[in-house]
Amino acid sequence: MSTTSLPTDLPSDLPTPLPSGAIIGIFGGGQLGRMLAQSATKLGYRTHVYDSLADTPASRVSDFETVAPYEDLKAIITFAKSCDVVTYEFENIPIAAVKEAQKHVSVYPDAKALETSHDRLIEKTFLRDTATVPVAKFHAVETMSALTNALTDFGGPSVLKTRRFGYDGKGQVKISDEKDVKGGFARLGGADLIAEDFVPFVREFSIIAARAQDGTIASYPMTENVHKDHRLHTSIAPANDPQNVKENAHAIAERILDALSYIGVMGIEFFELENGKLIVNEIAPRVHNSGHWTQNAGCTDQFEQHIRAITGLPLGDTVPIQTVLMTNLIGEEIKNIKTIAQRPDTFVHDYDKHDIRAGRKMGHVNEILGKF
Ligand SMILES: Nc1ncnc2c1ncn2[C@@H]1O[C@H](COP(=O)(O)OP(=O)(O)OP(=O)(O)O)[C@@H](O)[C@H]1O
Ligand SMILES: [Mg+2]
Repeated sequence: MSTTSLPTDLPSDLPTPLPSGAIIGIFGGGQLGRMLAQSATKLGYRTHVYDSLADTPASRVSDFETVAPYEDLKAIITFAKSCDVVTYEFENIPIAAVKEAQKHVSVYPDAKALETSHDRLIEKTFLRDTATVPVAKFHAVETMSALTNALTDFGGPSVLKTRRFGYDGKGQVKISDEKDVKGGFARLGGADLIAEDFVPFVREFSIIAARAQDGTIASYPMTENVHKDHRLHTSIAPANDPQNVKENAHAIAERILDALSYIGVMGIEFFELENGKLIVNEIAPRVHNSGHWTQNAGCTDQFEQHIRAITGLPLGDTVPIQTVLMTNLIGEEIKNIKTIAQRPDTFVHDYDKHDIRAGRKMGHVNEILGKF
């Protein structure tokens, strides 16, 4: 483990909202952690990033850095004790690390939110049975015969997914007919899978919502999302709402946040059907790629909103003053950023990742499409 020299004024119990200078711990050193740290700094807080790698996009803009594996509970304890509140920027942190940290400091969103979203089967079951929101039919798949039964139940195509560690469409295959069944099952490891009914959506959108420590909820307008190569490509907000589904979408989002007694920002992904019916696809207990447009929309951005929620500050305004199109810069596309920056009404965000790799999110662009 390596840690930059920690502050000498280690915190005792601080009041809520946390005062300036308080230290926000962030598990994860990626771009979401970086943008959280930048917003925390703007609000007068200091940040401490924990990652298994050194010199990450987030740690390069943070006050303190711990480099240690997530399994190193001693390092987790030292980290937790040096922070006034801890949050995370990705879901695949071992639960044990978060639970250990929680013994020493408040962690928001708490381990329950993380546990729920770690595993698609637990997540879908929670959404259907506890939050009582609409989800696609699904079945746990541990054997070929369970998969065959699931397909019979759906009576049509299915998306077979690994229960854990999926992102950007990794760990999933579409099963359209008989001949895909065996290969798809084997390709995903043949165990710990979930089969979902294929949803014939007309579009995908998300709601970014925040819940404060006093239970207040503030949601941003619907964001329409377009994927390319199974990865989020563009988000546009506020989205058109021809089927007038926004009230339903916001009510569903609130039910999910309340059911988890959630604190912080959450991304909720929806499918919209031709008849206006909504299906929740998945939730992300963190700031979300489809919320990056908020940075240049003239309202409180999602990163500041998350910091506000976890430090006990009141939530900020979520009403944009302009329509924003966010486009991810993937791999080599980052090389165009200086040219893109010359366009009017365009804001560029570069994550300062040192290795350009195919498929890697390197930055994003927010383009103002029109002011209200
Ligand atoms: N049941 C389904 N029916 C139809 N399309 C689906 C279904 N499940 C997933 N998809 C498609 O695959 C995409 C990725 O699925 P999902 O969001 O579950 O996985 P992910 O790997 O967590 O993706 P991401 O990291 O981009 O959110 C969805 O945005 C959607 O386009
Ligand atoms: Mg998704």
